[in-house]
Amino acid sequence: MNPSPVIVALDFPDQAGALALVERLDPSLCRLKVGKELFTRAGPPVVEVLVKRGFEVFLDLKFHDIPNTVAAACDAAADLGVWMMNLHASGGRRMMEAARERLEARSHRPLLIAVTILTSLGEADLAEVGFRGTPAENVRRLAALAADSGLDGVVCSPLEAAELRAERGEEFLLVTPGVRPASAALDDQKRVMTPADALAAGASHLVIGRPVTAAEDPVAALQAILESIVNS
Ligand code: C5P
Repeated sequence: MNPSPVIVALDFPDQAGALALVERLDPSLCRLKVGKELFTRAGPPVVEVLVKRGFEVFLDLKFHDIPNTVAAACDAAADLGVWMMNLHASGGRRMMEAARERLEARSHRPLLIAVTILTSLGEADLAEVGFRGTPAENVRRLAALAADSGLDGVVCSPLEAAELRAERGEEFLLVTPGVRPASAALDDQKRVMTPADALAAGASHLVIGRPVTAAEDPVAALQAILESIVNS
């Protein structure tokens, strides 16, 4: 298994832009995340190209639908050879269990993680859609439900990692965006941690986009991040 905790977010509007970066990256130093924009524009072939080049791919499509539909979508993602995929925990236990069971029927099961509460939602936003309590309370409840439904982990803010690690134990995956090297711009991220601090707080994987993809020398930027982790 790839020992690097870094997942580079390929937030590009087209395959050419994504592949221009990927050509310079080494699959032993990072994994790649394909999200809704790139997938909607470039489609499954971009995922297949990345997998063929030896990269482990996190397909970040955040499925949320009736159990049968989500299970079928997860099966389709697995057919592309992805390493990990995700869904919304708020789709409920039956939806998560159906997805997990469908993937378990395969000879090689990709990892399945859940989004709990989007970090863009505050308490007032949650109240408006009928969720009681603070974002943190809802994150904890939905992470517990995801674990109970047999999922491998959750996407979370690095600021939530310590508490979730303590509650959910060592095996549960905590995949954290909102990570910035000390020297990098915040971009539109508000509450961030450095890669070393996020890992120390309990993150198992770090999703890092612009600090690598927008760097003048993306390979050097990734290497500096990996060194900052080793030296911490
Ligand atoms: O460029 P940057 O490092 O901010 O990219 C972070 C990636 O993680 C993006 O693909 C973004 O959509 C995703 N993400 C996030 N915050 C969340 C959930 C996902 O930044 N709460």
